[in-house]
Amino acid sequence: MRLDKFVCKSTELAKSEAIQRINAGKVSVNDAITTDEATQVHGNNSVLLGGARLKARDFRYILMHKSADTICSNIDEAYPSLFHHLDVGRVSELHIAGRLDADTTGLVLITDDGRWSFNITAPTNQCSKVYRVGLAHELTSEIAEDVALKFEKGVQLQGEQQLTLPATLQVVTPKEVLLTLTEGKFHQVKRMFAAVGNRAVSLHREQIGDICLDVEVGQWRYLTNDEVQSFSLPL
Ligand code: URA
Repeated sequence: MRLDKFVCKSTELAKSEAIQRINAGKVSVNDAITTDEATQVHGNNSVLLGGARLKARDFRYILMHKSADTICSNIDEAYPSLFHHLDVGRVSELHIAGRLDADTTGLVLITDDGRWSFNITAPTNQCSKVYRVGLAHELTSEIAEDVALKFEKGVQLQGEQQLTLPATLQVVTPKEVLLTLTEGKFHQVKRMFAAVGNRAVSLHREQIGDICLDVEVGQWRYLTNDEVQSFSLPL
């Protein structure tokens, strides 16, 4: 990680204060004064600030049940940020691994570990996400079969160069389905149903990889080590 980030993650300094200390020659990496805040450092490097060795805090991995009318952003916009429900420190260091729309509810993973969230969001890693979708128009068994086939082959979304990756449709009732995706294009579920002449009227994410939503709306918990590890290797 960058040296300024490492200094922030191992002290209470804000980014600007960390950069100021580094530029002023107060920080050494492996016994050499380093004034460039963009220098890459690793956990096993010896980083000293004013002669004291720094140790970065552990990364945090959090599961949250997002409520409707909150947004997946660190700041309030048209709706309040979902981080208001998260009573932990240094919230500004956290980000969301795969955001949901304001009107979508369900499972959100939150972390300060960028490599880990990349494993979840990069389409190349094929991490599955399961959505429960309420539909405007009933799926008869014939239409359901046709839609399932189209989603399996990939559909063309407006403004996209490539077809969507293969997705799996499971019918729960004529107006409720489970859709499993391995990518996360902007408004993807809503646009996929629009592309087949239907409309998603409710949307809820139930699962990411092997992790199922198991807390009440607005609640959160830390992930277990096994859950964290389940995303640590390419899937
Ligand atoms: N697809 C959407 O359309 N919206 C979401 O929030 C998530 C997936």
